[in-house]
Amino acid sequence: MKVKKQILLINGSPRAPHSHSKQFASLFRKFCRVPSDYACITSTNHAALCQRMENYSDVVLVFPLYVDSLPVRLLEFLKSVEAYRLSHRPVVSVVINCGFFEPKQNDVAVDMIRLFCAQNGFSFGSALKIGSGEAVLATPFRFLLALQIYRLVSGICRNHYATLSFTMPIPLATFIKASFGYWELLGKRNGISREQMETMKIEDDTPVNPRT
Ligand SMILES: Cc1cc2nc3c(=O)[nH]c(=O)nc-3n(C[C@H](O)[C@H](O)[C@H](O)COP(=O)(O)O)c2cc1C
Repeated sequence: MKVKKQILLINGSPRAPHSHSKQFASLFRKFCRVPSDYACITSTNHAALCQRMENYSDVVLVFPLYVDSLPVRLLEFLKSVEAYRLSHRPVVSVVINCGFFEPKQNDVAVDMIRLFCAQNGFSFGSALKIGSGEAVLATPFRFLLALQIYRLVSGICRNHYATLSFTMPIPLATFIKASFGYWELLGKRNGISREQMETMKIEDDTPVNPRT
């Protein structure tokens, strides 16, 4: 089955409506010169999404790195794709963003999608690995990321698939210092100290800042 060049972006973030992935997908679509559509994964739309995938030459999975791997929401969806009999298999590309600085943190997740493609008869297309993905959109380096997304889109539109990486052009030590500052400020606003954040008691029942 021959389908015309068009791209479906699928957001695999568990918090899709408020996700960074949504913003990366939106930048992608801004630069895209072929028809493109956007969808989120929910617990009830797997079959509908699988059916939709058949109409596209390309699918781009946009998702965050969770524990060096894929979010469960995306894993569950991939299980459904595996079981669904697609009459046409689009080329699968990925945009993966992670909180840590180094884009290579995303390598294992890229390999997992590559393996999924190889085992299920899909061609793997492009990959964009974004380090500092949680922070970059709120910094002056946003335009540099947009440039990488532009390169990614141009390649996919011309069937020139490639693997690209991005992180902010600052020293790692500066990134870590800024991250600590950010989390400490957020903790302070919520009545949580750095010491409390450094414990494993994230689901402790006792109030973190008991007012007696
Ligand atoms: C449960 C959980 C696990 C995470 N695991 C990692 C990780 O292993 N490595 C990393 O660099 N970032 C990790 N992150 C950070 C996310 O990848 C980061 O916040 C990302 O920007 C979220 O993207 P989204 O807004 O599109 O969901 C994790 C976040 C959560 C909530």
